[in-house]
Amino acid sequence: MSIHKEYDFDSIVNDITNHPKFYELKHELHHGISRYEHSLRVARMTYSITKKLHLDYERATRAALLHDFFFDEELKECTQMETFKKHPLVALKNAKECFDIDCKQADMIETHMFPVCNRFPKYKESYVMSTCDKLVAVHEMYRYKASLVMGVWLIFIFNMITIQK
Ligand SMILES: [Fe+2]
Ligand SMILES: [Fe+2]
Repeated sequence: MSIHKEYDFDSIVNDITNHPKFYELKHELHHGISRYEHSLRVARMTYSITKKLHLDYERATRAALLHDFFFDEELKECTQMETFKKHPLVALKNAKECFDIDCKQADMIETHMFPVCNRFPKYKESYVMSTCDKLVAVHEMYRYKASLVMGVWLIFIFNMITIQK
């Protein structure tokens, strides 16, 4: 009989969420919330799905948490489209500097913007995480960014009306 140890979400991600550089993502705006929160959402969803599918959920969850490990400052010279394409590589570089990243995790981080990248993902976990990222992004854009943009427009219109009087 084989003994398979189960890992819960917190024990898998603890060292990453407490890392000082990763913690700095709390100050980066992403889809109307922080990049830290966005990454946690993607990691949680990836954890549940990969675990249910009996995939490599530990490594997948850690890679999911690190998929957007970049700072706006690092891509400040880039256009929006360049940022779209380049941020996975910057995230991978930062992830490698701070944590042990294997081939599968590197593939997951590098191809998470699929199909907006130069190659196909190699692993099932990469496809799962890329899909989770898109689902979470759509939810966040709808839930947070839309209301944030609406709020800014309302303030702008209110100011314009006030100035006219
Ligand atoms: Fe991303
Ligand atoms: Fe993301």
